[in-house]
Amino acid sequence: MRFHTGRACGKAILAGEHAVVYGRPALGVPLAQIAATAEIREGTGGATIVAEDLDAVWTLDELGDGHAIAHIVHTTLAKLGEEAPPNFLLTIRSTIPIARGLGSGTAVSTAIVRALAAHYGHTLNAAQVSALVFETEKLYHGTPSGVDNTIIAYEAPVYFVRGQPPQRLRVARPFRLVIVDTGVPSETKVAVGDVRAAWQAEPARYEAIFDAIGKLVEQARDAIEYGRLERLGPLMDANQAHLREIGVSSPELERLIAAAKGAGASGAKLSGGGRGGCMIALVDAATQAAVQAALTAAGAKAVLVSEVGR
Ligand code: MEV
Repeated sequence: MRFHTGRACGKAILAGEHAVVYGRPALGVPLAQIAATAEIREGTGGATIVAEDLDAVWTLDELGDGHAIAHIVHTTLAKLGEEAPPNFLLTIRSTIPIARGLGSGTAVSTAIVRALAAHYGHTLNAAQVSALVFETEKLYHGTPSGVDNTIIAYEAPVYFVRGQPPQRLRVARPFRLVIVDTGVPSETKVAVGDVRAAWQAEPARYEAIFDAIGKLVEQARDAIEYGRLERLGPLMDANQAHLREIGVSSPELERLIAAAKGAGASGAKLSGGGRGGCMIALVDAATQAAVQAALTAAGAKAVLVSEVGR
């Protein structure tokens, strides 16, 4: 039987999360070794959705438009100009841990957009895919900056400023990140909402912190684009200090960050919404094994290694 698939990778934020919601730049990298896939087969009676990892089966109507999956399906069909009632079996699978700041929901939406476009014989470019997914992001995150859907739709290291076309980061010298899961869910929407409330209460203080983050993101971009990797680690540490200050770190994240730094990582920070989720550490061939061992000993739940720019 004829079928079409869409695939989308995970992501990590290298620098600038939260401040990016307030117009400052952020740097993000795709994580190609984890992915969501959506597979579509011609159906016989309406649209059925199978979420294999959740052991769930729904009809599209049953989900209602308030559900992210139904929302992205409807938004995409409208964009493609497909008006006939959908008639397919959509199967979703993902190896991206859920609610860990690695873009699992965003990747599922992106995979669905790509599978639907292929199924109906359309071609969408990265900007179109990203814009569609952003509509559904708003449902989940309240006030998303658009950085997550951009990294995942473009599947490339990016320099991102809200509302502007993303710029591809030129990685002069590949670098290595160890990405570890605290095992604690990261509720991005809650963290973003709490930062917003704090910013409303103390706008001048928060604007100054966001400015400082924006500045170090620019410096981190230069470090990557000019191959000055020795500057990148300290900038990640400085970013983490600001994230701690705005209240989005957690004891679990701090424990893993201290373990990574103690074992020789040149920089370490949370990645994404924070309060849980993942932390990333900058390592090299000489420090990677010791950092990974220290993180496992400190209770890291899952370890991924990403070579950025290779
Ligand atoms: C989440 O990956 C990044 C945040 O800055 C939220 C956003 O940009 O939408 C925390």
